[in-house]
Amino acid sequence: MQRLIINGGSRVCGEIKVQGAKNSALPLLAGCLLAGGEVRLTNCPELSDVYAALRILSRFGCRCSFKNNTAEVNSAELTEYSVPEELMREMRSSIVFLGAALGRMGQCRLSFPGGCELGPRPIDLHLSALKQMGVKITEEHGELCCTCPKGLRGAKINLSFPSVGATENIMLAAAVAKGETVIYNAAREPEIAELAKFLERCGARVSGGGCSTVRINGVEKLHGCEFEVMPDRIAAATYMAAAAATRGELGLTSVRCADVQSVLNVFEHAGADIFCGKDSIFMSFAKPLRGVKTVRTMPYPGFPTDAQAVVMAALATAEGTSVMVENIFESRYRHVDELVRMGADIKTEGKVAIIEGVQSLYGARVRACDLRGGAALAVAAVGAKGRTVIENVKYIDRGYENIEKALNSIGADVYRSNDS
Ligand code: EPZ
Repeated sequence: MQRLIINGGSRVCGEIKVQGAKNSALPLLAGCLLAGGEVRLTNCPELSDVYAALRILSRFGCRCSFKNNTAEVNSAELTEYSVPEELMREMRSSIVFLGAALGRMGQCRLSFPGGCELGPRPIDLHLSALKQMGVKITEEHGELCCTCPKGLRGAKINLSFPSVGATENIMLAAAVAKGETVIYNAAREPEIAELAKFLERCGARVSGGGCSTVRINGVEKLHGCEFEVMPDRIAAATYMAAAAATRGELGLTSVRCADVQSVLNVFEHAGADIFCGKDSIFMSFAKPLRGVKTVRTMPYPGFPTDAQAVVMAALATAEGTSVMVENIFESRYRHVDELVRMGADIKTEGKVAIIEGVQSLYGARVRACDLRGGAALAVAAVGAKGRTVIENVKYIDRGYENIEKALNSIGADVYRSNDS
């Protein structure tokens, strides 16, 4: 098992180009299945989750390659409609392939995506929407057997929660359904707007992507295209947090300010000086970091749940008290115990976390329990006094492209070791 060794205490200083977005690349890769031709995704991050998605595409019969941050997928010939459990378990969000598989093959068989480190990950919104579109779904031995014998048909779908994955699945299925689909209370995350742009480039008819009402008029079939993956707004927030934790200063390029506005607002409240360019941000934490009350995670454009852990790690050494409320996932505080091992003073009660700023954190042996919690430990370690060993780096590798190289490029001292 690999681990990160981080010698903390140096200030983050420098400039970093933000990687392509994991949470955009994954639905776009599902879109490749639907396209039915050759798709080139550029600026695609090299992540274990991306490789897992490419394995699923290969399983369906796609011809896939990945080189120099470009994924090439040709889905002209599909040979399989089932995804075995071992592939589904590799990545919880693989449910997003369901809509595209049904759109191309009219059937799909996949195992229930397991829960994950964030607690139960229900897919009721995905399944009820697909049923409205004519999909018959039965469950046999933990597998979902989905067929649409009469083809997919457009429907008016009201989402009780603006689920990102459900919005993406519905858009993918609706692109080639008969008639119009309207999604009310759709997720408004930037990744949704990107998926809409991608589908349109493949010949779909989509309007309102990124807004709370999305309209899709189904077409017979799509075609391939070339598409650039957007910058990863959560990776950007992570490196901002590392700058905050070390009172450093950081330039970020290839980042869209609007995508991270809610995170910038929190850091501004905490005392950062921030300058936004067209696709760059400069942040300086010269002033003392102040505690922030209250950071509530919300659907976009609210503060993103994925940035909660890394911002908490930065606020652990702020002056005064910070309060965070995790409204999206049931158990997304598993990093707290590990931060406390490093000297943080954090108490949680249900959704609420109270962070009492301490003078400094100290290096310790800690364990990543999930992707963003692991990144939070890296943020804390960069600012801590002494050496930290982070176990279970595989979680971090799901969403961060070579995190040790990225952190070292802005002044940190990180190396990766394999368990002897
Ligand atoms: C996407 O997950 C992201 N993953 C998550 O990022 C992110 O945290 C989440 O959106 C919220 O922004 C990808 O894009 C691959 P949801 P998703 O459906 O689609 C409940 C990361 O760290 N819900 O918007 O699974 C669900 O339980 C990952 O990069 C239902 O109840 O998120 C959760 O409480 C983690 N029924 C809430 O909605 C459903 O059918 C948000 O889920 C679906 C969701």
